[in-house]
Amino acid sequence: MSPLDELQSKALAELAAIADLKELEAWRVFYLGKKSQLTQTLRGLASLSVDDRRQAGAQANQLKLLLESSFEEKKKTLQQAQLAAARQEYFDVTLAGRPLTLGRLHPVTQTIREIGAIFSGLGFQVVEGPEVEWDRYNFEALNIPPGHPARDMWSTFWMDYKTESGQTPMLLRTHTSPMQPRVMEKTKPPVRVVVPGKVYRYEATDATHESQFHQVEGLAVDEGITLADLKGTLYEFARRFFGSDRKARFRCDYFPFVEPGVEMAIDCWVCKGAGCRLCGNSGWIEILGAGMVHPHVLERVGYDSNKYTGFAFGMGVERMPMLKYGIDDIRHFFANDLRFLRQF
Ligand code: DAH
Repeated sequence: MSPLDELQSKALAELAAIADLKELEAWRVFYLGKKSQLTQTLRGLASLSVDDRRQAGAQANQLKLLLESSFEEKKKTLQQAQLAAARQEYFDVTLAGRPLTLGRLHPVTQTIREIGAIFSGLGFQVVEGPEVEWDRYNFEALNIPPGHPARDMWSTFWMDYKTESGQTPMLLRTHTSPMQPRVMEKTKPPVRVVVPGKVYRYEATDATHESQFHQVEGLAVDEGITLADLKGTLYEFARRFFGSDRKARFRCDYFPFVEPGVEMAIDCWVCKGAGCRLCGNSGWIEILGAGMVHPHVLERVGYDSNKYTGFAFGMGVERMPMLKYGIDDIRHFFANDLRFLRQF
């Protein structure tokens, strides 16, 4: 192998391994520059005899052309690769952004806060109480003694709980009403509270029944509170929650802890009272139970029922957005399906 053959194979092998333009330039200087072996060889041709010069000159020139064209080709390839890489980094400022998925409050929480804010504005304080409750508060203090048929109004999850004095009936509260005696035991009148919270019923589940749901309880006790205060307060709540053009209707109902007891309905905002599917063709939609606190309930917590009177009310929380937005199944609230939850 002649020195030029060796040079050629070495140069081409190195060239093939080159990955960037800086290395390529170094390669060019080394193999084709002024001080390169090839340039030196070409310069030295002058000192050779004519015959030798012809043969050696032709080979050296051929090699020079080969290295130069290989260099150009490699340069092109590397430049194209560089451009392609640059294009990858480049981004299109006209593309739509990727939306950030923010968390949000559950519709039940939103509704509880909205109801709480309305009653806060009317002078009520928001308080909470235990979900595991004594029979004493859930029933007895509310004028529902053991064996009273009114207990059948609430299908109950009972639990076994043993104290030193024996077994005391505990349960998952069936309504938020036990917070009425709990609050009154701890406070002297005037009392104005609303109590949001979870309640439980031993019930088969369907589109309008869940074994777990939420209520907001309300209680106002003071000297001189009348049924007119109940009606005015709850009518104002309905206007703020369902719209200022709502009409309200109060009818007698029975709850053991109030006397008289009432059921409040508002006129149907879909059909404006004419009758439709939402209101079951009646033109009215029931939204809560209420009444004047029963003297027995006041006396049990040591309030003088000759001096103090009060009103109480209780409403289902899920029912409110169901009515407002036409949600047809209460189970949506507990299914954790994001397609449902993202709408609120
Ligand atoms: N606790 C009742 C229920 O769950 C609702 C209720 C009715 C609460 C009348 C009240 C009331 O405070 O006065 O069915």
